[in-house]
Amino acid sequence: MHHFIQLTDLIEELKACHIHIGDLEHVDAVLQNIISDGPDKLQVVADFDRTLSKYTHRGQICATCHNVLEEGGVLPDFYKEKALKLRDKYFSIETDPEMTIEEKTPYMIEWWTEAHDLLNMCHITKEAVQKMVANSTAKLRDGCKWLFDECHRASIPLLIFSAGVGDVIEEIIHQQSTLYDNMHIVSNYMNFDKEGKMVGFKNDIIHVFNKNENAIHKSDYFENLKDRVNIILIGDSLGDLQMADGAEHMKNKLKIGFLNTKVDETLELYKKKFDIVIVQDESLDLLNAVIRKVI
Ligand code: TMP
Repeated sequence: MHHFIQLTDLIEELKACHIHIGDLEHVDAVLQNIISDGPDKLQVVADFDRTLSKYTHRGQICATCHNVLEEGGVLPDFYKEKALKLRDKYFSIETDPEMTIEEKTPYMIEWWTEAHDLLNMCHITKEAVQKMVANSTAKLRDGCKWLFDECHRASIPLLIFSAGVGDVIEEIIHQQSTLYDNMHIVSNYMNFDKEGKMVGFKNDIIHVFNKNENAIHKSDYFENLKDRVNIILIGDSLGDLQMADGAEHMKNKLKIGFLNTKVDETLELYKKKFDIVIVQDESLDLLNAVIRKVI
């Protein structure tokens, strides 16, 4: 109880009843360190879909970056039909509580490979991506613009790590906020030919369970930020917990998880895996409250 009083004194937002903390003492210590070390020691690593973007907006489910392509009204009908069939087949595997990540991984590679091949048949253009995003229900969370502006102002690096489609993510950010130079997106990016038509994807597939082994961890991204020993990681799925595995010099890591659905079945597990669990919230208020204390 003593620690809870300390914590909530620190950040008023932690008092809200949809915020769950498994180990108060640990969160208390990590938060105090992150706040007292200040902005020069901090970096943020975030998932995109349903983490920086909303799961619901005033109760209505919002589009993920894959949904943007399916519902954009631009791609041929067969695209949506086949993309939904793929999701029907593979989503239950992704979320099957009986299977291990090792067992699921080959299916995820199959899903992403088939989905990318399907998209490849549509000869999508950059203009089409802009139009589909503008038509879509994809929305950055309330407070996301504040987060981007303030991280930029305080030069806090923000890595967005997504198994979605990078071109769609960039476009959502362009249309609803600002993509600053302290922000770096690692995702599946499309290749365009001279005529501006999509001709496949760049680099290796990023799927939900390889966020630990992707190129970013082998690149010098985390090495260049090795003096930033404090990390706030924010995600909505268990695969997101691996997003900062490449950061070897880290001292304090605060893992914040959004629990958007299946709350009753999943809350206890999320409380074990994430330091702070935020249940059914359309904002980034808690993260922003922490950032406000840091800067
Ligand atoms: P992420 O939120 O960790 O980036 O995960 C991406 C989600 O996208 C994951 O739940 C599977 C889903 N997905 C689709 O909805 N359609 C697709 O075509 C593919 C490849 C993935």
